[in-house]
Amino acid sequence: MATLRHAYIAGVGHYVASRVVKNAELEPLMDTSDAWIQERTGIQERRWFEEGTDTTANMGAHAARKALAMAGVTADDVQLIVFATLSPDYFFPGSGVLLQRELGMTNNCPALDVRNQCSGFIYALSVADQFVRTGMYDTVLVVGSEIHSSGLDKSPTGRGVSVIFGDGAGAAVVRPSLAEGQGILSTHLYAQGEFAEELIVKEPSSNRDNRNQRMMENEQDLYPYMNGQNVFKHAVVRFPQVIKEALDQNGYQAADLDLLIPHQANLRISQYVQQKMGLPDHKVFNNIQRYGNTTAASVPIALSEAVEHGRIKRGDLVCLAAFGSGFTWASALLKW
Ligand SMILES: CC(C)(COP(=O)(O)OP(=O)(O)OC[C@H]1O[C@@H](n2cnc3c(N)ncnc32)[C@H](O)[C@@H]1OP(=O)(O)O)[C@@H](O)C(=O)NCCC(=O)NCCS
Repeated sequence: MATLRHAYIAGVGHYVASRVVKNAELEPLMDTSDAWIQERTGIQERRWFEEGTDTTANMGAHAARKALAMAGVTADDVQLIVFATLSPDYFFPGSGVLLQRELGMTNNCPALDVRNQCSGFIYALSVADQFVRTGMYDTVLVVGSEIHSSGLDKSPTGRGVSVIFGDGAGAAVVRPSLAEGQGILSTHLYAQGEFAEELIVKEPSSNRDNRNQRMMENEQDLYPYMNGQNVFKHAVVRFPQVIKEALDQNGYQAADLDLLIPHQANLRISQYVQQKMGLPDHKVFNNIQRYGNTTAASVPIALSEAVEHGRIKRGDLVCLAAFGSGFTWASALLKW
């Protein structure tokens, strides 16, 4: 069998809404405290979108423009868009086509939407990787973008969930590798649907007759529900498992890693994973303190910041890993 070519990430970019919401701003709304939020999650502040300025698609476009510029390609060079989000602009069509319009693209390239929540970006990256490896496409734009703040229960009832999530976008351009041994070494994707309702927004549900009239009957189901302790319990098992699988498959050990970029679910989860993998502080990238959990946007925002801050150098071994609603989890091992 002919050896497939490798793909690599040629450019990254991110965008976060300008409105900074510190924990103190949530205290009177949700009967919470800065101390509680920091102690349980590590979050100090997050971004909330500006209505009329930010949309899921246009935040993705801001991030995409930066990634395209870094990759040295134009929007019309893109042959496939893969857009990951759990907070699309519309029920349908998906945000991928809106991103294409937002970028002023005229080449009618396909636009695929990925619905895998916190693992969405790595799932999307894996799709891009397969298309580039097989030679079907040379330039794939992968975007993760989320607006959570418009759908959170900002009352004390929703405090267990609403303090965690934030808005933002990240993007990557995936192209054929230029050098032997450089690029996306492997991706690893998993799902376990038996836990679908452990982290969920139930409404509006297609399964209910007259859904538009009836969705208000269960108003609370319009907001995210999370069984936080169960999510935590599974996350701390699945993260190390899927990271180890990526390392094993490529003949590496944890000590060979230059940087681990975990999905920014909760700083306590990242710290647990770091300890379990035996990694020193400088080998794990965290920015949840400033952005909260931005689900599908969290990995590309962190990757883009890590590149911007000089935390990743050419030749570095970088692992991306995520866990979230579904449950779904995933990893990608990159030789930068
Ligand atoms: C969400 C999370 C921080 C909650 O921490 P926890 O220790 O499990 O907290 P619990 O839900 O058991 O609640 C403990 C207490 O804090 C209270 N509480 C919950 N949220 C609160 C908040 N924002 N502020 C203050 N008190 C809060 C609860 O009401 C409860 O009070 P009680 O003991 O009087 O009943 C934690 O479960 C977690 O991080 N889970 C993983 C979440 C995650 O990573 N999600 C994203 C996955 S992609």
